[in-house]
Amino acid sequence: MIILITGGSSGLGEAITRRLAADLNNTVYFTFNQSGPNATQIQSDFPNAIPIKCDFKNETDVAYLKTKIGEFDPDVLINNAYLGSFIITHFHKTAPTDFLTGFKENIVPTIELTQAAIAGFRKKKSGKIITILTAALVNTPPAGAAIYVANKAYLEKLAQVWAAENGKYNITSNTVSPSFMLTNFTKSVDERIVEQIKENHPLKKLLTTQEVADTVYFLANTSNQINGVNIVINAAINIK
Ligand SMILES: NC(=O)c1ccc[n+]([C@@H]2O[C@H](COP(=O)([O-])OP(=O)(O)OC[C@H]3O[C@@H](n4cnc5c(N)ncnc54)[C@H](OP(=O)(O)O)[C@@H]3O)[C@@H](O)[C@H]2O)c1
Repeated sequence: MIILITGGSSGLGEAITRRLAADLNNTVYFTFNQSGPNATQIQSDFPNAIPIKCDFKNETDVAYLKTKIGEFDPDVLINNAYLGSFIITHFHKTAPTDFLTGFKENIVPTIELTQAAIAGFRKKKSGKIITILTAALVNTPPAGAAIYVANKAYLEKLAQVWAAENGKYNITSNTVSPSFMLTNFTKSVDERIVEQIKENHPLKKLLTTQEVADTVYFLANTSNQINGVNIVINAAINIK
């Protein structure tokens, strides 16, 4: 398979890139922004993993990636990159323009790349879209995460639209909603809160990026009968 993953050089994205590239039948294109050295390391570890620099804030970068999608014709698109912070401030203190910025930086590039992928998928009547959401969509949203949770909710609905509109072309759109993992995204969360999350966890341990990467690997390899599904990975802390 030919796979494209956004933000595939660090955190969860790196775990997914490595998991998929470990299967030498796959060619894994993965984007990076600041994690250039990591990207080089992944490329040297896996000859079938190819980095592409793409800053979602840079329209030229996004346009270039869309052109590349037309050229390398992926079978799977994994929307993983996220720009911005997890916890910022309470909703009532958040400037309305910050919501707009979060939307422009996250949702618009994801829409553009997914449209480019779907154009190719429809031509060959085959394709898979996997979008990373968050378990905060089913759990009580953490205070201070308004922009993040709203962006992910928007993607959740778009992913359902992609499933409904494209299923008859043998294209699937599924989502994965993980709970808290230790990555760059969560590194500023206070240690005591991390300990509390672990303590409240039924397994008394945090979810790892490898565990989520295994789930993405499953979705990338499974039947196209599985469509429009959201896999929540929260150890049944909240069941919806
Ligand atoms: N950590 C958690 O607890 C958690 C829980 C649920 C869901 N998630 C989701 O998992 C996904 C990966 O997050 P993570 O936890 O692995 O955190 P992360 O390491 O901070 O990953 C964010 C990714 O987005 C990329 N990115 C950041 N700014 C970018 C930009 N300007 N242009 C293009 N790409 C950019 C980063 O690339 P560079 O490193 O190359 O800059 C990085 O690969 C996100 O969708 C996040 O919402 C995380």
